[in-house]
Amino acid sequence: MESLKNKPVDSPNSDLSEQIKAATKDSHIRAENTQLMLNFQRGQITETQYKLLLCSLYEIYQALEEELDRNCDHTGIKPIYFPQELARLESLEQDLEHFFGPQWRNKISVPAATHRYTQRLREIGKNSPILLVAHAYTRYLGDLSGGQVLGKITQRSLGLRGNKGVAFFSFPGVTSPNKFKQLYRARMNCIDVTDQEKLDIPDEATRAFELNIEVFDDLHKMLSITEENSRKDITSNTFASSPVLQFALGVGVALATVGMGVYAF
Ligand code: HEM
Repeated sequence: MESLKNKPVDSPNSDLSEQIKAATKDSHIRAENTQLMLNFQRGQITETQYKLLLCSLYEIYQALEEELDRNCDHTGIKPIYFPQELARLESLEQDLEHFFGPQWRNKISVPAATHRYTQRLREIGKNSPILLVAHAYTRYLGDLSGGQVLGKITQRSLGLRGNKGVAFFSFPGVTSPNKFKQLYRARMNCIDVTDQEKLDIPDEATRAFELNIEVFDDLHKMLSITEENSRKDITSNTFASSPVLQFALGVGVALATVGMGVYAF
C-alpha cells in the first residue's frame, strides 16, 4: 500500500526528511507486512488484539513524549516539538479507560519487545536527544499516514461509535494531515545537524521501525496463544465470565507459554 519512491540514501545534499524516508523504505514495507498489520488492513483485528496493541502503544508514547518534553528546548528538538497537535498519551488513556474501565492502569501488559523499545527511547533521551527526531518521525508521521486508514478500519471492525476507543487515531489539532506532514518535514530539514548526525538520524529511524516490528511480532505471538486458549476455554466452559478477567488470564497464559517478559505497571 505504501508508495515510497526510491531515493538516493546517502547523497550528502539531500534533505534530512528525504534521507530518512529513503533509509526506512524497506523497513516500512516490512512493518506493513507484519501479521498484526496485515490483520489490521484486512479488517480482521479483534478486540483482544486491539486492546493489547493499545497497551504497548501507551508505554511507547509515554516514554517518547516524556523524553520529548524533557528535551523540548534542545535545538534539534524544538523545531519538531508539537505537543498540542501530536501528543498521543491522553488519547491512549481515554481508549484504555474505554476498554478496561477506570482501573485500566492495573490491567496493562506488554511483551518484552515493548520494554526494549521504551528503554531505547529513555537511553537516547538522556544521552543523544537529537536521535529522538528519528523516533518522533517514525511514530507521528506514521500515525498521520497509514494510521488514519487503520483508525477507520478499526472503528468499523470493532463496531465502535464516534471516537470511543479510537481516540488514538484522531488528531483534533491537525486540520490537514498532508499539510501538517509537509510542515513537519520542512521543520526536520531546518534542524542544524552535523554530517555525522545526518547519517545517525536515518539509522536510528531504521532502528525505530525494527523496534516497532519486534513489538508487532511479539504481540502476534502472544495473541495467537491467547486466542487459542480463549477458544479452548469457550469450548470447555471453565473460564471466568468477566471479559476483562478472560483477557488478563488469557494474556498471562500466553506470556508464560511463549516465555516472553511481561511488564505490567
Ligand atoms: C498497515 C500498515 C501501514 C500502512 C497501510 C501504511 C501506509 C502508509 C502510507 C500510505 C504512507 C504515505 C506514503 C507517502 O506519503 O508517500 C505512509 C507513510 C509513513 N508511514 Fe506507514 N503504513 C503502515 C504502517 C506503518 C508503521 C508500522 C510505521 C512505523 C512504525 C509507519 C510509518 C510511516 C512513516 C514514518 C511514514 C511517513 C513517510 C514519509 O513521508 O517520510 N507506517 N504509510
